[in-house]
Amino acid sequence: MPSFSHHIFVCCNQREPGHSRGCCDPEGAEALRSKFKAAVKSKGLTPLVRANHAGCLDQCELGPCVVIYPQEIWYGGVQLSDVDRILEETVVHGRVVEDLLLDPDQLNQKSKS
Ligand code: FES
Repeated sequence: MPSFSHHIFVCCNQREPGHSRGCCDPEGAEALRSKFKAAVKSKGLTPLVRANHAGCLDQCELGPCVVIYPQEIWYGGVQLSDVDRILEETVVHGRVVEDLLLDPDQLNQKSKS
């Protein structure tokens, strides 16, 4: 079992239109995951960095959501245009992308209500 410096989980969950919680991938195209995967490869970050498809991460209202382990960094509202920035800042330089960062107090609000 390989260990990764950064294991990026990209929510690709799809729900029916109009669902009260929405979803991270309404088109069902996994475009965000695909862009992460391609960018990880093109930047030469493999094999220590991996981007995987994830099911619902239960932060749907804050999506599209990405979580990076083992750093346990949660990003929300992630767009295709953010992928290179996340890889460059967080993976390469170890910096948090502040404008995408989900504060721990924002997480798991649905299960608290
Ligand atoms: S649908 Fe993405 S976190 Fe739930």
